[in-house]
Amino acid sequence: MNPPAEPEKCPQAGGPRSAASAHAERGSQGNRRTLPATGGWCTMGMSEGARQELGIGRDMTGCDRCAAEAQRAADRPGLGVLRAAGRHLNPPLKWAGGKRWLVPTLRDLWRDHAHRPLVEPFAGGMAVALGLRPGEALLNDVNRHLIHFYRWLQRGLVTGIETCNDKALYYRHRRRFNELIDEGRDDTQEAAELFYYLNRTGYNGLCRFNRKGRFNVPFGRYRTIHYTRDFSHYAPVLSAWQFASRDFEDLQLDPEAFVYADPPYDVEFTSYSAGGFGWEDQVRLAEWLARHPGPVVASNQATERVVRLYRGLGFEIRLLDAPRRISCKGDRSPAREMLALRWQE
Ligand SMILES: C[S@@+](CC[C@H](N)C(=O)[O-])C[C@H]1O[C@@H](n2cnc3c(N)ncnc32)[C@H](O)[C@@H]1O
Repeated sequence: MNPPAEPEKCPQAGGPRSAASAHAERGSQGNRRTLPATGGWCTMGMSEGARQELGIGRDMTGCDRCAAEAQRAADRPGLGVLRAAGRHLNPPLKWAGGKRWLVPTLRDLWRDHAHRPLVEPFAGGMAVALGLRPGEALLNDVNRHLIHFYRWLQRGLVTGIETCNDKALYYRHRRRFNELIDEGRDDTQEAAELFYYLNRTGYNGLCRFNRKGRFNVPFGRYRTIHYTRDFSHYAPVLSAWQFASRDFEDLQLDPEAFVYADPPYDVEFTSYSAGGFGWEDQVRLAEWLARHPGPVVASNQATERVVRLYRGLGFEIRLLDAPRRISCKGDRSPAREMLALRWQE
């Protein structure tokens, strides 16, 4: 008998799943995450009540189709998630302004300084640290949820929550994450797992909070999502690094450190940017960096005033073409990136 064709996406809660049940009946050979048969029902996004009604236990989380996809993603060389500490690691999150594209250029600048600690006051998605792989690093970001997540990666996070690209599940997980914030329990493993899920599933990987500090990003529009469950391969690399979550100016810098600063982009003609990092902060940062005795590299959008600011403080300026970004109006605006460099005297 030919096995039935597998569905394109994870079927929604309560729908019959012939492929999934067939898969479960066959046993999931080659798929290390063996899931039990669920009587032909996908448990993704299924309410507790519905589970009970159908006699599906709490341990039967996730459909095996999604689990198999996640496993394939985890196993695919080059797609990240490599187990050995000596191999490449991709950033685990989607992060606005990620600088993976800049890593080859930064690697050339870093090469002669690789014996130094790397300090990133704006670590964001960690693309640069994971690209350069310093032995010693201080990675800071004012977003405390991000840093909590990285601290759980240091401990070898393996997630257990339900993960599926499902709207109802997304809003349930978002509500739970916000409850944990309200209860002051946003540094727990559960919060870290939810943060990862929300980052992968929410709109464009945005990380946005309302005035009360609650995460308010809507459900995303992805066709398929590969969720990683086992992050334990990050632990050997990250455990040698320090993490902090504060305003950049409150960091204690080792005078020998190599500082790479990648703040939110300067947006010309505004004094306050959407990310809460206004022109005054850009000036405060450039002056703070100019006082550091060790090597400094700063990147930013090459607006006239930013270039003038860093040049005026004695930095060497290099201009690069950044990947084109889609603006909020939908047009693809050409972007120029500035690198401001200052080496030790
Ligand atoms: C452009 S992103 C950094 C991206 C990062 N280089 C990467 O490759 O993913 C800027 C980061 O600065 C952080 N940030 C904003 N204001 C900050 C402040 N005052 N101090 C420290 N971090 C701040 C934001 O949370 C954001 O993650």
